[in-house]
Order: sequence, then structure tokens, then C-alpha cells
Amino acid sequence: MSKQALAVKTSIEKVETGLPAKERKKIAENLGTVLGDTYTLLVKTHVYHWNVVGPLFLPLHELTEAHYNDLFQAADTIAERIRSLGFPAPMTLASIDRKSKLDGNTGSETAAAMVDDLVGDHEEMVRRIRSITADAAEAEDFVTHDMLNARLAFHEKAIWMYRAIIA
Ligand SMILES: [Fe+2]
Repeated sequence: MSKQALAVKTSIEKVETGLPAKERKKIAENLGTVLGDTYTLLVKTHVYHWNVVGPLFLPLHELTEAHYNDLFQAADTIAERIRSLGFPAPMTLASIDRKSKLDGNTGSETAAAMVDDLVGDHEEMVRRIRSITADAAEAEDFVTHDMLNARLAFHEKAIWMYRAIIA
């Protein structure tokens, strides 16, 4: 392999799929926010998975594990969609974090407070993702629309499950 081939860098790519560059850029930026939020919630979910105590330990420990695994997979899918739209995925943890609009504070100490905190974050993500999903459909980016639709289903189900545990 030539040295030149190994020196190729990631850059904005020319994509001729019928989605105008302006639309792709806007969608990719919005996906950056969803990616940031997904990582913030992934870390928070993981922290609560480790620290939850009390009679709800086992169901919450297991549910948070299922959720952080899903969020990790989702982060990969979202970042790869940004690449498919022709843009670089975030290069640093700091830039992922900067894009997040969620409050990443993991200060909840009781099981009930942790669940409230997680439900609030999932709800916030649903509100944000719904509007981004509608924008993607409007731009006729049906792939992003379908991907985000699946994210909405995950977050809405997570809300129900957390609520059911502490009901
Ligand atoms: Fe674990």
C-alpha cells in the first residue's frame, strides 16, 4: 500500500443521492445532537446501573443494563448515518459532549430519584427526536426518518418501563 493511500483524511464528501447538501448538513448537525444526547444518557444510565441500591436493585440494575447496551448500539448507528450523509462523525469525546443538550449530572442518590432523572431525560430526547424526525421526513431523508422513528420507539418504551417499576 502506498504512503499516499495511508495519508487519506476524513472530510466532507460529495454525495449525489438527491438530498441537497444544505438539507444533508442540517440533518447531520441534528444527528450530532442526538448522538451527544445518546452518549450523555448512556453514561448516566451506566452510572445508575452501578450505584442503585434498595429493594428495586435487581430490576433497575437489569433494565439499565439493557438500556445502556441499546444506547451504545444506537450511538454507532447514528454516527454511521452522519457518515452516510457525507459528514465526519465527531472526532473527540469533548465534541460529542458539547453537542448534547441533556443535563449529564448524575447526582441522584435514591432509586426513585434515579428513575425520575432517567424518565425526564428520555422524555426530553423524545421531544427533540420527534421534531428532528419530522424535519428528516420533510427533507425526504427517509433513512434518517426510519432510524429516528426506531429511536423514538425505544425511548418511549424505556419511559413506560421505568414508570412501571416504580409505580
Ligand atoms: Fe453491569
